[in-house]
Amino acid sequence: MNDSTTHQGTARQEAWGDARGLRVVVTGGSAGLGLGLARGYAAAGARVVAIARNRERLERALAGSGVLPLAADVSEKRAIHRISAEVIEVLGGVDVLIHNASSLGPAPLKTLLETECEEVEEALQTNVLGPFRLTRALLGHTLAHGRGATVVTLSSDAAVNPYPSWGAYSLSKAALDQMTRIWGRELVEQGVRFVAVDPGDMATALHFAALPDADPDGLLDPEEVARELIGFIGRYGAAAPGSAPARFSADAWRAWA
Ligand SMILES: NC(=O)c1ccc[n+]([C@@H]2O[C@H](COP(=O)([O-])OP(=O)(O)OC[C@H]3O[C@@H](n4cnc5c(N)ncnc54)[C@H](OP(=O)(O)O)[C@@H]3O)[C@@H](O)[C@H]2O)c1
Repeated sequence: MNDSTTHQGTARQEAWGDARGLRVVVTGGSAGLGLGLARGYAAAGARVVAIARNRERLERALAGSGVLPLAADVSEKRAIHRISAEVIEVLGGVDVLIHNASSLGPAPLKTLLETECEEVEEALQTNVLGPFRLTRALLGHTLAHGRGATVVTLSSDAAVNPYPSWGAYSLSKAALDQMTRIWGRELVEQGVRFVAVDPGDMATALHFAALPDADPDGLLDPEEVARELIGFIGRYGAAAPGSAPARFSADAWRAWA
């Protein structure tokens, strides 16, 4: 490594903070917020595995970032053991697990009366059961080795507000919030922190699938949100166990010291 490479590495760490030694898993790591988180953690020195379904897009998005791409569908029960086995093999465990991949349910959005049961199932499989299974699979290894971890779930204001036509997504995010709270209570003594975070409205594919006419100028840049969120996750993980809220609105986590 020459001086210029070292300088570039240091500059990246100054921009993204210092995450050296951390082992990070990000689901939905090929686009939007997840891509920003995966790249950002890698730039801060962490070893990172990023998961998404479309292998070509994932590999293209992560080229040159140092992030390890893992093509898999978190909504598929059978994929979870392969994901956890590969993560354990390449990282040796996980310190920060971020459940960021998400299904909107039906797009365009529909009222519940118009929504098919299969569309609700898809949202629940991706947004609730996938995170449930993957958390169990990865934390089993972490706890067996006497280590703590921080588990982050991406929430939404739709988890708490009954917006008409957001039903499938909304109910899945409400369930994800509650699962996050319960996991957190159950594993506080073992040093595992769980936190649900609403990132706010960002200019991403998911947002435009829901609201195609949204003004991009009024939306947050997902890379900037990722940078702020990485700082927040570090502070949250360092807080005394049980001392911090288990769910943060988009304003609350940014204001949290
Ligand atoms: N954007 C917003 O305004 C907003 C607001 C509030 C909350 N959020 C939450 O923030 C998180 C990130 O959203 P985003 O807007 O950044 O999303 P996005 O840009 O649409 O990206 C979604 C990512 O998830 C992957 N993905 C989707 N389904 C998957 C599955 N079953 N298995 C593995 N990967 C999967 C996608 O890649 P593949 O399609 O290749 O799998 C992609 O990498 C989500 O949890 C979302 O609910 C977003």
